[in-house]
Amino acid sequence: MTRVADVAKPVVRWGLNHGMPRTALRLAARRGDLQARLFTAGGTTPTLGMTDLFDEIRARGAVSKGAFTYLTASHAVVREVLGRNDFRSGITPAAGFWGRLARWSSVAFLHPMAPPSLLVTEPPDHTRYRRLVTRVFTVRAVENLRGRTEEIANELLDTIDPTDPVDLVETYCGQLPVTVIAEILGVPPEQRGTVSTLGSAASPSLDMGLSWGQFRRVESALAAFDAWLAEHLEKLKANPGDNLLSRLVAAREDGVGLTDLELRATAGLVLAAGFETTVNLLGNGTALLHDNPAELAVLREDPALWPNAVDEILRIDPPVMLTGRTATHNTEVAGVPVPAGALVTTILAGANHDPAVFPEPRRFDVRRPNAREHISFSAGRHYCLGAALARMEGEVGLRTLFDRYPNLRLIPGATHRNTRILRGFERLPARLTPWPMH
Ligand code: HEM
Repeated sequence: MTRVADVAKPVVRWGLNHGMPRTALRLAARRGDLQARLFTAGGTTPTLGMTDLFDEIRARGAVSKGAFTYLTASHAVVREVLGRNDFRSGITPAAGFWGRLARWSSVAFLHPMAPPSLLVTEPPDHTRYRRLVTRVFTVRAVENLRGRTEEIANELLDTIDPTDPVDLVETYCGQLPVTVIAEILGVPPEQRGTVSTLGSAASPSLDMGLSWGQFRRVESALAAFDAWLAEHLEKLKANPGDNLLSRLVAAREDGVGLTDLELRATAGLVLAAGFETTVNLLGNGTALLHDNPAELAVLREDPALWPNAVDEILRIDPPVMLTGRTATHNTEVAGVPVPAGALVTTILAGANHDPAVFPEPRRFDVRRPNAREHISFSAGRHYCLGAALARMEGEVGLRTLFDRYPNLRLIPGATHRNTRILRGFERLPARLTPWPMH
C-alpha cells in the first residue's frame, strides 16, 4: 500500500501543480492570452525581449484579468499590492476534493513555496522568523564582507586563463555568489560544488507547468538539498563556527529559537536565494555593460556611479521576473474588484519598465536619477532579505571584472536559463582579452 502511495503521490503532485496548469497555459497561449504568453516565455525569450508584452498588459489597465489570475505591470499598483495587509503571499489551498488530494500528495521535504519558507509565511510566524534572521543578517555584517568579496572576485579571475575563451557564468558569475554565501553560512569549501549543483537543479521549483522530467529532477534535488541541510545544521550545532548560520542556530527571541524545520527552511532559502538570483544580476549586468560601452565609459570616468549602475541593471533586467499575492478578503485594486482567494500576479519587471516612473524605460542609463525605485527586490513584508548583500556583490563583482578586463568581449554562444521566474544567462562565452597576450 505504501509503495503504491509512494509512486502515486508524485504523479498526483505533478498533475495538480504542473500537468493541468501546463495544458491550460498552452491552450490559453494559443488564444493569445497575455498571462499565458507571460508564463510560457521561457529561457529563449530574455526579459528585455518581453517589454512589449509588459506594455500590452499595462495598456489593458493598471489591473486586468488574465486567464488564471489578475495581472499588473503598473509600478504604483505592484508596490501597493505587495505592501497591503489584505493580500498574502502563497496560494490559497483549494477546498473540497481537490484540496484533500493536494494535502494527501503534499511533499515530505522542504520546498521554497511551502511553509515554513519565509516566502510563503505570514505574520505572526513570518515576523518571528524575519526578526531572528535580520538580527544576524545586518547591513553592517554585509558591509564587513565587502573586502572578502573583493578577494574572492580576484581569486576567481586569477584562475581563468585570459587568453582562452571562457564561459563567464560557469567560471565567475555563478561562482562568486555561491562562494560568498557559502562562507557566510559556514559551508566547507569541498561541499560548495554539491550545494551549487543542487541549488541550480532546484531553481525551476518556483515555476508552474514543469514537464514530468523537469519536475522529477527538481524534486530529487530539493530532497537531496534538504538532507544535506539537516546534516550541515547538525554539524554547526555540535561545532558552531564564526558564521551567520551558527549565529542563527543560537538566536533566540524571548528565549525561543527556530525549530529544526524552521531553521532548515530559512537556511535553505537564504542559501539558495543567495546565489540563484545574484548569478543573474552578474550575468545580466555583464551583458548590459558590454553592449553599452558608452555607459561603461561613464563608470570609468566616475566610479562613484557604480552603486547606481547596479540598481539600473536590476531595474532594466531583473533576476526575478514576477511574484504574486492572494487577496484575503473581497477587495478592490485600482478600482477593479478582486474577490477573496484571487491571485494578483505582480510583474516586477513590468513595474520596472513603467514609463510613468522611468522615462524612456528601455534606455540603459547608469546615471538614471531614480534607478533605485525599481521593485526587483519586491516590497512590503517580503522585501528581499539579501538586498544589501546582492547590491554589494553586484558592485564588487562587475567592477572587478571590468576594471581588470576593460576590453572584455562577449562571443557568440550565449544562452538563457530555461527558468521562467528566475531570469538570466545559462552561458555567457567571452574573451577577457581581445587577442592573445603572448
Ligand atoms: C540580485 C539578487 C536578488 C534578487 C533580485 C532577489 C529578489 C527577491 C525577491 C523579488 C524576493 C521577494 C519575493 C516575493 O515578494 O514574493 C526576495 C525574497 C528573499 N530573498 Fe532575495 N533576491 C536577491 C538576492 C538575495 C540574496 C543574496 C539573499 C540571501 C542573503 C536573498 C534572500 C532572500 C530571502 C530570505 C527572501 C525571503 C524574504 C521574505 O519572504 O520575507 N536574496 N528576494
